[in-house]
Amino acid sequence: MKFIAFNVRSDEEKYFKAWEKQNDVQVECVAAPLTTEKLDGLAGYDAVLTLQTGTYPEKMFEKFKEVGVKVLSIRNVGVDNIDLKAATENGILVTNVPAYSPNAIAEFSVTQLLQLLRNTTLFRRRVAAHDFRWAPFVGKELRSLTVGVLGTGRIGRAAINIYRGFGAKVIAYDLYPNPELKKEGIYVDSYAELFAQADVITLHMPATAADHHLIGAEAIAQMKDGVYLINTARGALVDTEALIAGIKNGKIAGAALDTYENESPIFNHDLKDQPLKDTVFKELLELDNVLITPHVAFYTETAVENMVTIALKSAQEAVTKGTTATLVNQ
Ligand code: COI
Repeated sequence: MKFIAFNVRSDEEKYFKAWEKQNDVQVECVAAPLTTEKLDGLAGYDAVLTLQTGTYPEKMFEKFKEVGVKVLSIRNVGVDNIDLKAATENGILVTNVPAYSPNAIAEFSVTQLLQLLRNTTLFRRRVAAHDFRWAPFVGKELRSLTVGVLGTGRIGRAAINIYRGFGAKVIAYDLYPNPELKKEGIYVDSYAELFAQADVITLHMPATAADHHLIGAEAIAQMKDGVYLINTARGALVDTEALIAGIKNGKIAGAALDTYENESPIFNHDLKDQPLKDTVFKELLELDNVLITPHVAFYTETAVENMVTIALKSAQEAVTKGTTATLVNQ
């Protein structure tokens, strides 16, 4: 059996090598992303492993079928950039890693919120300029706030546990409520109700056609004055221009964005010597109370090891058995 893995970073290599040693599968690691020009070179490989950060259109799956690739194994949770219908039509099995470390993402989202609440960026900037005054950056404590969690899958639930540990009041909304949480009475009945009550809104849901720009001008108008927004989920959930307007008019006190709707050409690239072409993104970067990170909420040692080894195991099972527990297009 032969696999090829794209987008392989230096921190992943050791896990690929260790798995290859323990399993009778040859795995070629490529640092570059999978692009349509590379599709002819895939003949002879049973599975392709990659990350969701690229796009996987219909013609990729047609080519997979033509050259004999049977499986696309994604080393992450989200499959929103993948044409699953085209994969299925071409008989390609797509697998993901649904739970590599929900805590990695939950912890990061809380970390970012705490930084906003305690103005750490502003204090760091002052200290760097040898200005050691306090006022006016008085902070807020989590136990005095209501945190609204949108999406109560594994990551949302991990976030809820952490927020409860800090003594915050937690409310939640999900189209598919979790039975245990429902019993606890954590759910409100609508997005509008959550927007009206929450001091902090944290997003932990997948991007779908139905929730595209869920956080737009209309939603922001329903939120409390001085609300904080945390997005470690998907950029498409937030209408960035509406968010910028909300920050500028003071409705939103702060935002932490680990995802951005047009992030692919920016995040995980070194653009030091290049002008940023995206004017909306440039505007975000200039806002003092917006923390931008390049889609790194997932990025811990535990998560990376799980992403690599679970994706490899899924690919192996899908190739040998024609199915696996992490299959997403069935
Ligand atoms: C995911 O697992 O879906 C993420 O957002 C992580 C990223 C490496 C694509």
